[in-house]
Amino acid sequence: MSKRQAATIAARAGIAQDTAFGAVTPPLYLTSTYELKAFKQPGQYDYSRSNNPTRDLLAETLAELEGGAKAIVTSTGMSACLLALQLLTPDDTLVIPHDCYGGSYRLFTNLAQRKHAFKLVIVNFQQPGWAEQIRSTGAKMIWLETPSNPLLQITDIKAVCELAKSLAALVVVDNTFLSPVLQQPLALGADIVVHSTTKYINGHSDIVGGVLICKDQQQGDELKWWANCLGITGAPFDCYMTLRGLRTLEPRLRLQQENTTKVVAFLTKQPLVAKVYYPGLEDHPGHAIAKSQQRGFGAMCSFDLAANASVLPVFFSALRLFTLAQSLGGIESLICHPGSMTHASMDAAAQQTAGIGPTLIRLSVGIENVDDLLADLQQAFNAVAGAVENTVNQAAPVTANTSNEQQQFRLNPALSAFW
Ligand SMILES: Cc1ncc(COP(=O)(O)O)c(C=O)c1O
Repeated sequence: MSKRQAATIAARAGIAQDTAFGAVTPPLYLTSTYELKAFKQPGQYDYSRSNNPTRDLLAETLAELEGGAKAIVTSTGMSACLLALQLLTPDDTLVIPHDCYGGSYRLFTNLAQRKHAFKLVIVNFQQPGWAEQIRSTGAKMIWLETPSNPLLQITDIKAVCELAKSLAALVVVDNTFLSPVLQQPLALGADIVVHSTTKYINGHSDIVGGVLICKDQQQGDELKWWANCLGITGAPFDCYMTLRGLRTLEPRLRLQQENTTKVVAFLTKQPLVAKVYYPGLEDHPGHAIAKSQQRGFGAMCSFDLAANASVLPVFFSALRLFTLAQSLGGIESLICHPGSMTHASMDAAAQQTAGIGPTLIRLSVGIENVDDLLADLQQAFNAVAGAVENTVNQAAPVTANTSNEQQQFRLNPALSAFW
């Protein structure tokens, strides 16, 4: 049979393979342990932290979708990131982009600064000179997130991989924003792909999970050993849910992307929007690279509101369909304020360097009817226009989360730990 397409791989994973009862849908193996065949005669499985049939099926499917030799399914996206970092020692240098997901940034900076787990170099891949900067560091691992969270900046994966090869460095790509349906970093030269499967891969905002996929079998085996050793493998029930969600990844994403194109077109004409960030826009600086390395522009977009940050509560509370929430990639539309939510673990200076301004808003567009989505945004913009007018007339500012409050959240470890 010819090589199967992503939609087929996802839909058919484990279907009609049950040898016990002929179940069409693969069963969920909720067991922590497995009976030995006899004394000193273990079976294929012995303990679910190490191996579980439900988790293995999800891992094999994700490895095939990304074109990798081995996948390790982890408890969260962050534990997939942590797993990749096990390949580094204190003398090694990790290069990260200046505008990655806030939680990843927190992991990298804290492991480097507080645990001395590796040396850290932060690079702006959007500026000329990034290659020279990396060459001078003697990098062992280069981390990419493209499109980046939340500004959808694009990095040329092939160019970075060519440089990495000349330095004998590994390239890890966080592919959460696109999924293997829209981008396959291993085929572009990367060594490892990580995902927060919490997002598009599961697609229904009802579990948290992660995966790490290696191009090289031996490296995969080493990291699988580490995943078992650290105890960060995914729970069987979560794997079952993720596999169920994964079956519809391709059609979900197709519809979400179609809706996003229309939402972006609407936003670009909106007077209360100062700037729209979406790689599908021809004037986006990464448009040409995105076109060459992606199969689509995805279903995430961001924009800067052309108003004072004090109107943000008016905008968010007026929305009925876009739910104000942290995550992304589910079938329901979500909206977030990266500065105080997903990227709150970056300090003010890091946010400023990354271009995350006080009125930056990020959308994860779902599968709802797009006319309903546009009407929802329009009435929220109308509410903002009304609030701006009132503010001008009464010279009384609309109350909002002050940046002071945001700063307190960020600095309070008990609260920021959740982000
Ligand atoms: C790009 C990216 N990578 C990694 C993560 C971490 O994933 P998780 O929340 O599943 O631990 C996230 C979470 O938002 C993300 O957006």
